[in-house]
Amino acid sequence: MIFKVSLYAALLACIGTATSNQHMTDFKLYAYGSGLKPGLRLFYGDGLAYIGEKTPSFVTEAVNVTFSESVDGTEFVAKPDTSTAWDQELLYVVNSTDAFDSVGFATDGDNGTSSNTTSGFGLYGGWAFHQNGDGKIQMKFYATPTDDEDIYLVKWSAGGTQTSGDTPIALRTMAPTVITI
Ligand SMILES: *[C@@H]1O[C@H](CO)[C@@H](O)[C@H](O)[C@H]1NC(C)=O
Ligand SMILES: *[C@@H]1O[C@H](CO)[C@@H](O)[C@H](O)[C@H]1NC(C)=O
Ligand SMILES: *[C@@H]1O[C@H](CO)[C@@H](O)[C@H](O)[C@H]1NC(C)=O
Ligand SMILES: *[C@@H]1O[C@H](CO)[C@@H](O)[C@H](O)[C@H]1NC(C)=O
Repeated sequence: MIFKVSLYAALLACIGTATSNQHMTDFKLYAYGSGLKPGLRLFYGDGLAYIGEKTPSFVTEAVNVTFSESVDGTEFVAKPDTSTAWDQELLYVVNSTDAFDSVGFATDGDNGTSSNTTSGFGLYGGWAFHQNGDGKIQMKFYATPTDDEDIYLVKWSAGGTQTSGDTPIALRTMAPTVITI
């Protein structure tokens, strides 16, 4: 009985941690999905989010980013790992009904369109999610192949149609394990 009670308490503690208002700082996002090299890192490429291990040939500015959860909200604040003209940008998804669009980076305050939202992001046990106004937690990230091998554009499916080649991915803070034998 005592065992049961403490197990229950431990479970509650776990759930509490995952959903509490603690703000995770300095994390990186890695993509995991079927058919993809495990743990491709998410980076910034000309304002859009890509995953891969090298700089794509087709972007002007590519830089790895490290994220922090905003203190007063539910934003993912991206800081470049090497110095760029910008200090920080916010991750956004296009969450208008039926959208299947690129995930990208927006300057705080520079809004453009109301269907790009920089709020609603969070981590659940190290898995990145986005939450709509209705409170539904979703993890609908996709990887779309580019012309460069092992480099993919990251997209968010708000209900839109995927084409063959688009692969569902999980974005996680966990780096891939390197096993040396
Ligand atoms: C990100 O860092 C990895 C190594 O940690 C490197 O291989 C890759 O080229 C970097 N990507 C960019 C866009 O700088
Ligand atoms: C909004 O999203 C669209 C589609 O991904 C993109 O073309 C546009 O640049 C974004 N606007 C802003 C202000 O980030
Ligand atoms: C733009 O403004 C709208 C309305 O205030 C807001 O819902 C949306 O999240 C904003 N988008 C960005 C990219 O800041
Ligand atoms: C998009 O996400 C934001 C942040 O969670 C939310 O306020 C907004 O209602 C969402 N838009 C739609 C069309 O669901």
